[in-house]
Amino acid sequence: MRLAAFSRSQDIVTHAATPMPLSLHAAAALSGTVAVPGDKSISHRALMFGALAVGETRIEGLLEGEDVLATAAALRAMGATIERRGAGAWAVHGVGVGGLLQPRAALDMGNSGTSTRLLMGLVASHAVTATFIGDASLSRRPMGRVIEPLSRMGASFASAPGGRLPATLTGACPALPIRYLLPVASAQVKSAVLLAGLNTPGRTTVVEAIATRDHSERMLRGFGAEVSVEETPEGRAIAITGEAELRPQAITVPGDPSSAAFPLVAALIVPGSRVTIANVGLNPTRDGLVRVLRMMGADIVAANPRSVGGEPVADLVVTAGPLRGIEVPPEVAPSMIDEYPILFVAAALAQGRTVMRGLEELRVKESDRIAVMAAGLAACGVAVEELPDGLIVEGRGGDPVPGGATVAGHLDHRIAMSFAILGLRAAAPIVVDDAAPIATSFPDFLPLMARLGAVQMPNAGA
Ligand code: S3P
Repeated sequence: MRLAAFSRSQDIVTHAATPMPLSLHAAAALSGTVAVPGDKSISHRALMFGALAVGETRIEGLLEGEDVLATAAALRAMGATIERRGAGAWAVHGVGVGGLLQPRAALDMGNSGTSTRLLMGLVASHAVTATFIGDASLSRRPMGRVIEPLSRMGASFASAPGGRLPATLTGACPALPIRYLLPVASAQVKSAVLLAGLNTPGRTTVVEAIATRDHSERMLRGFGAEVSVEETPEGRAIAITGEAELRPQAITVPGDPSSAAFPLVAALIVPGSRVTIANVGLNPTRDGLVRVLRMMGADIVAANPRSVGGEPVADLVVTAGPLRGIEVPPEVAPSMIDEYPILFVAAALAQGRTVMRGLEELRVKESDRIAVMAAGLAACGVAVEELPDGLIVEGRGGDPVPGGATVAGHLDHRIAMSFAILGLRAAAPIVVDDAAPIATSFPDFLPLMARLGAVQMPNAGA
């Protein structure tokens, strides 16, 4: 069962009106080979950069999740032609840097923080006024982190209190180049400023003290932009020279390591399992979960290492086995920031205590992922201690968690998938109250887990 209906003509994908409870169960070991969908971060960027190149950009392996479709719809509303030619195969005819048009209606970003923040960057240096709206989760998330640097570049904003959506942005043309030291480790903020820099005369520089995912830098170079990266005493300084001309590209999107994380942890915690997850992106700014799970004793082999679309990729062969609790080094956080909910699940099944700190950013994701995971794990019988910046989890030493709870997902796809996976190693069923948000990033999560042997419990939550 797919979680969302995909409409070829207009890409409108809507959550089911009524909540879809979900409970997974593993009657036996998991086995088989699966491939996860395209990387969400790379998919957004491929569409955006294609929309700013003149000519046809062809994309293979695009993630057809709701978040990416929100980006496609917004780019169309600003003049790009974007067509779906087959499963994951898309073509984009761009308007050229500087060529974005005034959208006629508010841009609906759904649940997607990446769409919102990166598109605000694009609009900030165009002569365009755009209003951004989103769902209840997105409307709670802070946009001040992009409003601040983009205002310095000359854009003006009217937002809901606290720098939240709805927000109306009027771009500056010409915008002013800035040098910006990132106050939070955020690839979205870095990318927003660099994308604004594309249509800004001169050099726009972002300095990051802690490295975050570098897909924007890699892909902008591929599209022909002048991007330099330099180590400085303040950190990595990434400079883009505007006004850039982007050349259309053929892009193959590698599989998303943030989606692979769910079947990966499932294979580790269900005894006797052996699973291969093909085509997983292992960019060093994204592979923190694999490194941390190996520190916990996980048997994960990266087979057939290769390069796909300029990104390192491998097939992960995962064998179940005991995990031990560790102190997770806080500096690994940016390279696995979206993977903490599923790491908390792995920690719940490990031997001993796992301490995870340096995670303040988790409080402003699609939900407050520290509080929501702590509450859900406690409801499932796992001993946890919530810290202002992290979580301590007392592992069950490999025994199943008690379970027998209904957990609130708070419109957060990764919370819903994490508790669905925990249900595979629970004495009594764990029900996720609403699985619909999974369609934002991983529409085929359920069929993929079913292929590995996970069983969907009927009448979940009834
Ligand atoms: C993303 C960056 C990260 C990540 C998000 C995708 C991106 O957010 O959590 O899912 O594509 O740049 P932050 O930049 O807020 O850390």
